[in-house]
Amino acid sequence: MSKIELKDIDKFYGSNHVLKKLNLTIEDGEFMTLLGPSGCGKTTTLRVVSGLESPQNGAIFLDGEEIVNARELFYEPPSKRDLNLVFQSYALWPHMTVFKNVAFGLQIKKVPAAEIKKRVENALQRMQILQFKDRYPSELSGGQQQRVAIARAIVTTPKILLLDEPLSNLDAKLRIDMRSEIKRLHQEMGTTVIYVTHDQIEALTMSTKVAVFFEGVLVQVDAPMDVYKNPVSLKVADFIGNPRINFVEGRAALEGGGLAVKSDLGAFHFDKKDLTGGEFPQSGEFDCILGLRPEQLNPRTAPLSGSVEAQVYASQPAGSETLVQIQIRDTRLLVKELGVSHYESDQKIYLDMDPGMINVFDKQSGRLIKYAV
Ligand SMILES: Nc1ncnc2c1ncn2[C@@H]1O[C@H](COP(=O)(O)OP(=O)(O)OP(=O)(O)O)[C@@H](O)[C@H]1O
Ligand SMILES: [Mg+2]
Repeated sequence: MSKIELKDIDKFYGSNHVLKKLNLTIEDGEFMTLLGPSGCGKTTTLRVVSGLESPQNGAIFLDGEEIVNARELFYEPPSKRDLNLVFQSYALWPHMTVFKNVAFGLQIKKVPAAEIKKRVENALQRMQILQFKDRYPSELSGGQQQRVAIARAIVTTPKILLLDEPLSNLDAKLRIDMRSEIKRLHQEMGTTVIYVTHDQIEALTMSTKVAVFFEGVLVQVDAPMDVYKNPVSLKVADFIGNPRINFVEGRAALEGGGLAVKSDLGAFHFDKKDLTGGEFPQSGEFDCILGLRPEQLNPRTAPLSGSVEAQVYASQPAGSETLVQIQIRDTRLLVKELGVSHYESDQKIYLDMDPGMINVFDKQSGRLIKYAV
């Protein structure tokens, strides 16, 4: 059983404050993905958990037992923490074959040779690199080396697996295969996983929880679909989702207990129960931003009740889906439809949408103030 708790962690490199009062709990068996742009502190978080770096403030607990207490300068060494780390740069042993690289951890544990062979071959098979077992790392491509590193980390079935962008060097097809392998491995082994990526598709498809970081600050921890559906701020909304979410300027005011909003998408009244409790002006009108995902907008050729007249700017059919850019007065929106649709430029259409799915943000603070429901 492996639960990890990070409490008030601060990490500085010189004067660079890289992790800022980080509080994060990873439950036993969780697949937690750390997601954020380059330089936001994802690798540093893994290094702090694994013991390769010591934080200046805060504490870390593993299954309730303190393994780091910065105030008392207590840091349990990496070897005492039952975890395996796959580095962003794979760090294979250059003088060992693929087989030896993967087998090494089991040999240290004095596992019988026949058992080692079985387990190593199984791990290599899963990573689709069994045919390279007698090669040296220098004879492999980056993506092949990366998969050896993953095989080496999973073969000892550690209680905790830390994976730092393990699929970054793979082509699109292999990346999908490997996502499935890692996901299945997680389910089979019941290992607690902390997974680092800046690829939000990877985060959404593989994790049980996603932790979003910006500049060393943890801004949201939620199930993947909750982060997608109700990002806590404009910044998170903008970061998650491809193609990106549409933002529409609006004016909002409290009215009859709920929120009245006017914008190029129309006028809406949102029920009080759908408001987040985030702060916004309690009297008078204020600027807001409406957020609506491209797949939530449905273009129609004839008007429906509540639909909004718009013009096609350009459409981009792409086989499985069609992206359409739409103009409503001064607002440009992106619409995503399944399948192939054809539109003429400047064609008049009517946009249909479920107002419940609209996110509303306070423009000034950037905070989500109305949930998509
Ligand atoms: N050993 C180090 N010495 C000094 N600064 C460092 C060191 N390692 C990381 N940093 C700095 O700490 C910050 C966070 O780095 P980190 O490697 O954690 O980012 P990351 O989120 O993993 O980014 P990426 O997606 O590019 O891998 C960056 O500003 C980086 O320059
Ligand atoms: Mg990194």
